[in-house]
Amino acid sequence: MLSKILSAATIGIEAKPIEIEVDITRGLPNVIIVGLPDTAIRESRDRVKSAIKNSQFEYPAEKITINLAPCDIKKEGSCFDLPIAIGILTASGQIDFNNIKDFVFLGELALNGRIRPIKGALPIAISLKNSHKKLILPEENAREASIVESVQIYPVNTLSNLCNFLNGLNKIEPLFFTKEMFTENRQNYDLDFSDVKGQFLAKRAMEIAAAGNHNIIMIGPPGSGKTMLAKRLPTIIPEMTIEESLETTKIHSVSGLIPAKGSIIRTRPFRTPHHTASDVSLVGGGTIPKPGEVSLAHNGVLFLDELPEFHRNVLEALRQPLEDGYVIVSRINSIIKYPSQFMFVCAMNPCPCGYLTDAKKECHCTPNQIQKYMSKVSGPLLDRIDIHIEVPSVKYKDLSDETSGEKSEIIRERVKIARDIQLKRFKEDRVFSNAQMSYRMVRKYCKLDQVSMDLLKMALTELGFTARCYDKILRVSRTIADLEGKENITSDHVSEAIQYRSLDRNMWM
Ligand SMILES: Nc1ncnc2c1ncn2[C@@H]1O[C@H](COP(=O)(O)OP(=O)(O)O)[C@@H](O)[C@H]1O
Ligand SMILES: [Mg+2]
Repeated sequence: MLSKILSAATIGIEAKPIEIEVDITRGLPNVIIVGLPDTAIRESRDRVKSAIKNSQFEYPAEKITINLAPCDIKKEGSCFDLPIAIGILTASGQIDFNNIKDFVFLGELALNGRIRPIKGALPIAISLKNSHKKLILPEENAREASIVESVQIYPVNTLSNLCNFLNGLNKIEPLFFTKEMFTENRQNYDLDFSDVKGQFLAKRAMEIAAAGNHNIIMIGPPGSGKTMLAKRLPTIIPEMTIEESLETTKIHSVSGLIPAKGSIIRTRPFRTPHHTASDVSLVGGGTIPKPGEVSLAHNGVLFLDELPEFHRNVLEALRQPLEDGYVIVSRINSIIKYPSQFMFVCAMNPCPCGYLTDAKKECHCTPNQIQKYMSKVSGPLLDRIDIHIEVPSVKYKDLSDETSGEKSEIIRERVKIARDIQLKRFKEDRVFSNAQMSYRMVRKYCKLDQVSMDLLKMALTELGFTARCYDKILRVSRTIADLEGKENITSDHVSEAIQYRSLDRNMWM
């Protein structure tokens, strides 16, 4: 007998429907799977066989042909175990075909018949939005998918429970999305900006970076609090919108990073890949395409600590996602686009030993070593970083100060106001923050008065600045003015912005 089961496959962060046809005919017992399956799917025949037997059903001792359609999509992973098992049970008459027509099935099977979680539940639920189908999902994935309210989600835990349900012998209640699910995982950080003592200049620069969505690099001796500051950056960025939450959750969902029974992500991601990371792990790709760190950091922060320690080709690979806000992975029969809009934060020491700028410890590096170390960070990458700051060692006086600094919440309010001004300004343009302004937009929105113009000219001619930082100073000045709620950029804003270009001043070499 022939049966047809509905399922779905993720391609990038979208999902496509898949039909699984199972045909059982007389002949020597054998299972053939066709339709571009990968190894994990070919192995599913053994899992399915054990799971069916251990769930007290009969496994047909006949010739079984399984076809995954359409044939031009490469299917990966173990999520088709469950639909294949249901297909075999339907084709062998153990489940009535009329009872499965409205359902879409996904799940991996354990040998004892337990249903294991899968990747990509959210994009699959979204793809079924207008299909009037019901979705059978492993228990662990149900909450994540339930945000799509127009699709009924049935959480299941074992094959026998599911089959009894399909045969009308027991009940499984669909999981409905509740307001509590949304509020219980609201933006919630353990860290706070008030934990960082002193470092007022660095904190101010962080606030400006968050307000204008500017990328930032911190240079300073070990232990000065660079990592500490970076980790607290997400806490001063305004809360994610629903659309942002959904996009970020989709990426984490296809990467299998949503914890069991987890719901949608409301806290901005903070990713810190290690400096031994490969280019593929950073930007995404691979034989089975996967999102990289840049995409996992989508709508959040990507932090590269000890920047010069990263392999050069890895840093070069970052340039394109930084520029475009997405990564394209091309394969023979598919082109996948992973979004990657993140704030880029990096930290580095000023020299190999780290103490070049330290007032107390002596640096033993030779000028040659320092030059070599600094040159690892390429010009084109620095080109995409608007703010450079020096983070000096914390003074004992600041460290021992008991009064706590400003809380993240208060800074976040100011950042939000500045971001709202930008949203209004750019409503006709296709950008949403000052950092993204094109050459033409900078000319339009960053007009300077005579005093500011003279100041900038002096900086360019006398401080050894290169032409490439001209637009960056203007963009950062615009953000500083926005934080003050000022329409016009003044010389105060420009002179502050000039402070944030320390790497251009060649002071390190
Ligand atoms: N400004 C600061 N306020 C409070 N503690 C600090 C500060 N700077 C450094 N520390 C302490 O020193 C530790 C090391 O800081 P870290 O951020 O790792 O430095 P870096 O990344 O610059 O090497 C922190 O975990 C923290 O305990
Ligand atoms: Mg550090």
